[in-house]
Amino acid sequence: MINTSALRDKPTLTGKSVRLVPLCSEHTDAYFAASLDEEVRRLTGTHRQLTYAEAKEWCQTRASRTDRLDLAITAPRDGRYLGELSIYSVAPENESAGYRIALSAIEFAGRGLGREATQLVLEYAFEHIGLHRVWLYVYAFNMRAIAVYRSCGFTVEGRLRDSLLWEGRRHDALLMAVLRNDFRPT
Ligand SMILES: CC(C)(COP(=O)(O)OP(=O)(O)OC[C@H]1O[C@@H](n2cnc3c(N)ncnc32)[C@H](O)[C@@H]1OP(=O)(O)O)[C@@H](O)C(=O)NCCC(=O)NCCS
Repeated sequence: MINTSALRDKPTLTGKSVRLVPLCSEHTDAYFAASLDEEVRRLTGTHRQLTYAEAKEWCQTRASRTDRLDLAITAPRDGRYLGELSIYSVAPENESAGYRIALSAIEFAGRGLGREATQLVLEYAFEHIGLHRVWLYVYAFNMRAIAVYRSCGFTVEGRLRDSLLWEGRRHDALLMAVLRNDFRPT
């Protein structure tokens, strides 16, 4: 059984190096700036460029969405914006949902922030929302992301061959998922 209030009432989740807070209007400038980062765009296979108006609308409508959870990843010390993550495509009947995460710039990568953020949100997804299954797609070349997902209990379930065409080259995507019983909280 899904606890819908855990999706509706946006949580703040605090760890050692990150604080996850509800994504909202105040994050618009940082969210838009992150959407321009070339390396993050490559790693996430993002072809389309958002307009500022789209970024603004996205940030200001997140709090009212009762069917998904969009959180900003921030620094606990000064609130600096570090990225964002989402629990989306929630299927209450199946107790399953999708997950995505992107730090806002590659300079923040490799410091343990992505792993901690993923652990925090998975704990919330399993313990509070009541999900049984969380799945995601990741490009097969994104070894850092795959390492993080594996360490949080995700396993590879399938391969979507040639699903990304990026600068003339085709790349596979992997479908990964973690079940509640596979999750390893730290
Ligand atoms: C993917 C992402 C969330 C990971 O978060 P992060 O904070 O950079 O990762 P962490 O520092 O927590 O952990 C990185 C792990 O990957 C490992 N790693 C790094 N590069 C690697 C490589 N080329 N091959 C294998 N493992 C690698 C590190 O050793 C580390 O594992 P360890 O702590 O066991 O040593 C973050 O890098 C990000 O947002 N990147 C840009 C967007 C993106 O790729 N999003 C995911 C789309 S599916």
